[in-house]
Amino acid sequence: MTLSSAPGKVYLFGEHAVVYGEPAVPCAIERRARVGVEPREDGKLRVHAEDLSLDGFTVEYGAAADDRPDVDVSESLVTAATQYVDSAIEQVRDATGEDDVGFDVTIESDIPLGAGLGSSAAVAVAAIDAGTRAVGTTLESGELAERAYRTEYDVQEGQASRADTFCSATGGAVRVEGDDCRSIEAPDLPIVVGFDGGAGDTGELVAGVRTLREEYAFAADTVEAIGDVVRNGEEALADGDLAEVGRLMDFNHGLLSALGVSSRSLDSMVWAARDAGAIGAKLTGAGGGGCIVALDPTPETETALSFTPGCEEAFRAELAETGVKRLE
Ligand code: MEV
Repeated sequence: MTLSSAPGKVYLFGEHAVVYGEPAVPCAIERRARVGVEPREDGKLRVHAEDLSLDGFTVEYGAAADDRPDVDVSESLVTAATQYVDSAIEQVRDATGEDDVGFDVTIESDIPLGAGLGSSAAVAVAAIDAGTRAVGTTLESGELAERAYRTEYDVQEGQASRADTFCSATGGAVRVEGDDCRSIEAPDLPIVVGFDGGAGDTGELVAGVRTLREEYAFAADTVEAIGDVVRNGEEALADGDLAEVGRLMDFNHGLLSALGVSSRSLDSMVWAARDAGAIGAKLTGAGGGGCIVALDPTPETETALSFTPGCEEAFRAELAETGVKRLE
């Protein structure tokens, strides 16, 4: 078995706007997806997933693209959980030239699916890394990030940025603007995450913003305004000015709300964090449900979130300095 892990992330600034070429600053956190693979000669793909917000299931399907998974949970859940694996395995085949290789794939993840913590990017990065290594090729992190991006791009039908996958492959805080991805310095960030137990549909949310942006000039302006917030945020991070970082996160949340990607539970958690004295709070990722990220060096925000109706889990998140880890 070849085993790799990759971290999830929170967005300090810039989700959604990054899809239209504005900069974004995601930051990797120590919540990981671990993917183990074992090549098989019959060309089949067998996926066993634990903790993907499902009770655990196994899917087996053949080499032919129209083979239907034989499984007893709802097809949409299976589709959500396996599309990224399918597409990642295509990248493995392409990178290694092993067109007919099949795999047993086991996924374990403590990153909730679709909740704004980059679960799909982490699964894609870890699966491509483990898959390529299992057939004798080790990709350097630039190519790994690029191939994981291709995976998201395919599954999200062209509506994906490089932010999640680059951040997951390299770790740390990063700045992404179009094709330009780089690691940046960030001060020690007292990150607290609140999770409402739900998930948004990234493809649908991204499409919703696209429609608004095409329909209303002020929605396009809002996307550009997010870009301005991010540029200010980068300066605040470089200066180590946490108060300003927090103020800009609050602003970023307001702009995302205006674009229709927040939700009642995300707003409740953001306000609970602010009332508890957080330095700043915003939704993270595609929105629609899932997680918020707040900054608070004291225990107050975590405690307040744990008593907030609609918040299922609140936890402190350490920055993940290392992206992909090769475990076996
Ligand atoms: C999703 O985690 C972040 C979005 O900006 C989409 C993307 O960047 O691919 C909404």
